[in-house]
Amino acid sequence: MSNVLRQHAEQLFLEELEELKKQDNEKRPYNWILSPQSVVTYLMGGTLKNGFEIQPKYIGNRRLIEIAVATLTTDRALLLYGLPGTAKSWVSEHLAAAISGDSTMIVQGTAGTGEEAIRYGWNYARLLAEGPSEKALVETPVMRGMQTGKIVRIEELTRISADVQDTLITILSEKTLPVPELNTAVMAQKGFNIIATANNRDKGVNDLSSALKRRFNTVILPVPDSMEEEIDIVRRRVESYEKVMDLPAEKPALEEIRRIVTIFRELRNGVTVDGKTKIKAPSGTLSTAEAISVVNNGLAMAAYFGDGQLKAADLAAGIIGAVLKDPVQDKLVWQEYLETVVKTREDWKDIYRACRDL
Ligand SMILES: Nc1ncnc2c1ncn2[C@@H]1O[C@H](COP(=O)(O)OP(=O)(O)OP(=O)(O)O)[C@@H](O)[C@H]1O
Ligand SMILES: [Mg+2]
Repeated sequence: MSNVLRQHAEQLFLEELEELKKQDNEKRPYNWILSPQSVVTYLMGGTLKNGFEIQPKYIGNRRLIEIAVATLTTDRALLLYGLPGTAKSWVSEHLAAAISGDSTMIVQGTAGTGEEAIRYGWNYARLLAEGPSEKALVETPVMRGMQTGKIVRIEELTRISADVQDTLITILSEKTLPVPELNTAVMAQKGFNIIATANNRDKGVNDLSSALKRRFNTVILPVPDSMEEEIDIVRRRVESYEKVMDLPAEKPALEEIRRIVTIFRELRNGVTVDGKTKIKAPSGTLSTAEAISVVNNGLAMAAYFGDGQLKAADLAAGIIGAVLKDPVQDKLVWQEYLETVVKTREDWKDIYRACRDL
C-alpha cells in the first residue's frame, strides 16, 4: 500500500481501469483510454463479462453521467453545477481519470486566479535574462491539456472574476491558445476538453458570462433523492476512508449511519422524515459530504478515545459542528430540533443525551 495520503483516482482505481481497457470493444474517441460506454461503467459501477467487479463511484442517476460523458465527446465543455457536497469535484476527477488516464491537470478557481493561471505565465528570471522564449514560458494545466489532448479540470469556475473567465472563450471556441510574445499558438489536440465545476451556494461568486455559458453544457448534480441512496453513499465513502486511515475501530453499524443521514436530511428539508413535524432549517448546507465527515470523525473518536465502537457520544461533536455554522441563529434551530424531534424518539435517547451534554 502506498503512503500517499490521497492517491489520484487513476492510481487508486488502476486495476479497474486496466480491466475495463482490456474488455473494451467499443469505439474510443481519439486519445480516450476508454470508450464512452466504459467510462460510464467506471463511474456507475457494474460487472464485466469476465466477472470483474467495478465499484460505483457516483451513486445516482445514470443518465446524468451519460450526458456528461457524451458532452465531452463534442466540442462543448462540461459544467458540473449544484449544491456543495454533491460530488461535482469527485465526478470531475473520475471522468478525467477514465477518459485521459490523468486527473491531475487542474486549475483551482479563486477570486485571485489570474489569466496567467489559465493561459501561461513567465519565469521572470529567464524572461529578463534571455527575453521571451519557449524556455521562459510557464505552461498551465490548460496549455498542457491542449498539447496532449487530455481533459483539464477547472474547479469553482464561478469564483474566478468574469474577465479572467473570458480567457476561456477563445480556448473553447477556437481550440487555440495564442502566444503573441512568441508569435505562435498552441493548437489543441483531439481529446482535449474542459470539465468545470461550480456551486450555487458560495457567496461572492461571479456569474458565468453568457458567452461562456453557450460553450458549456451544464449538468446539475442533485442532492441524493432518497434516504437509502444517501446512506449508501455515506457507507461506501466511510468504508474506503477506514481502509486508508487504518483506524482501530469497528465498522460503523448501518443504524448509526442511518441516524446521521436522517438528522441531516430532516434539517436540510425542514421537515421530519414522517412528514409530521416542520423544522427550521439551519444556515449550513448539511451536505452528504459533511455527513461523511461526521461519521469519519466519530470513528476516529471511537478508535482513540472510546471503546472502538461508534456510539452517539463519538458523533455528537461532529453533528453539532456541522449544524452550528452561525453560532446564534443555528443554535436556536438546533435546540428546537433537539427538544421537539430527537428527544421524542424512543431509540434516540443516547444521541439526545450526548448532544445536550456538549
Ligand atoms: N451521489 C454521490 N455519489 C457518490 N459520492 C458522493 C455523492 N454525493 C456526495 N458524494 C461524496 O461526497 C464527497 C464530496 O464531494 P465533492 O467534494 O465532489 O463535492 P462538491 O460538489 O465538489 O462540493 P463543493 O461545491 O463544496 O466543492 C465525495 O467524497 C463524494 O464521494
Ligand atoms: Mg468541489
